[in-house]
Amino acid sequence: MEIFEAIRGRRSVRVYKKDPVKEEDLKKILEAGILSPSAGNSQPWEFVAVRDAKVKEKLVAGSGQGKLMDAPVVIVVCANISRSSKAYGERGVSLYSFQDTAIATYGMILAAHALGYGTCWVGAFNDSAVAEAINAPKDIRPVAMIPIGRPAEKPKPTSRMPLDKVLHENKF
Ligand SMILES: Cc1cc2nc3c(=O)[nH]c(=O)nc-3n(C[C@H](O)[C@H](O)[C@H](O)COP(=O)(O)O)c2cc1C
Repeated sequence: MEIFEAIRGRRSVRVYKKDPVKEEDLKKILEAGILSPSAGNSQPWEFVAVRDAKVKEKLVAGSGQGKLMDAPVVIVVCANISRSSKAYGERGVSLYSFQDTAIATYGMILAAHALGYGTCWVGAFNDSAVAEAINAPKDIRPVAMIPIGRPAEKPKPTSRMPLDKVLHENKF
């Protein structure tokens, strides 16, 4: 799929078929994550691929987003805070760790879309409940979840502010 077609065609899909996500496809999606740029190539991401029903139940409890967690696979994208801190100190912790993991998340979402899967960025959750569900060590912070499955809905495009409202020439 051509890059602009992928960017234009992606939607947040929140209902999934039960069909499994092929292992080779999941690998391609995760590889898209690790190919993302990161501050000083610090790569502070950690991914947890959740298929286990019991772990998913805990993700549902921690997010209140049951339908989404029904997806055959949910990737929990985490920031390895120590890795960002070692590379960039406070700026690494408070800014780059989130920027780096956000780019990786979007890369995986686009890759999944290009392979015919539906995904949705899930950011509304209780941090400690999700961390506990995946047994995250102290310096690992969950930042996003990506449920992945074959789409069982065809969402309409959502609106965007026009470019001329958000683009400023040289200065505000
Ligand atoms: C940081 C972030 C957090 C989000 N959290 C959630 C969420 O918790 N639950 C949900 O259903 N959608 C969530 N979304 C998806 C947005 O609602 C969606 O991207 C937006 O409405 C635009 O729609 P589109 O993705 O179809 O273009 C999130 C998106 C982002 C980028």
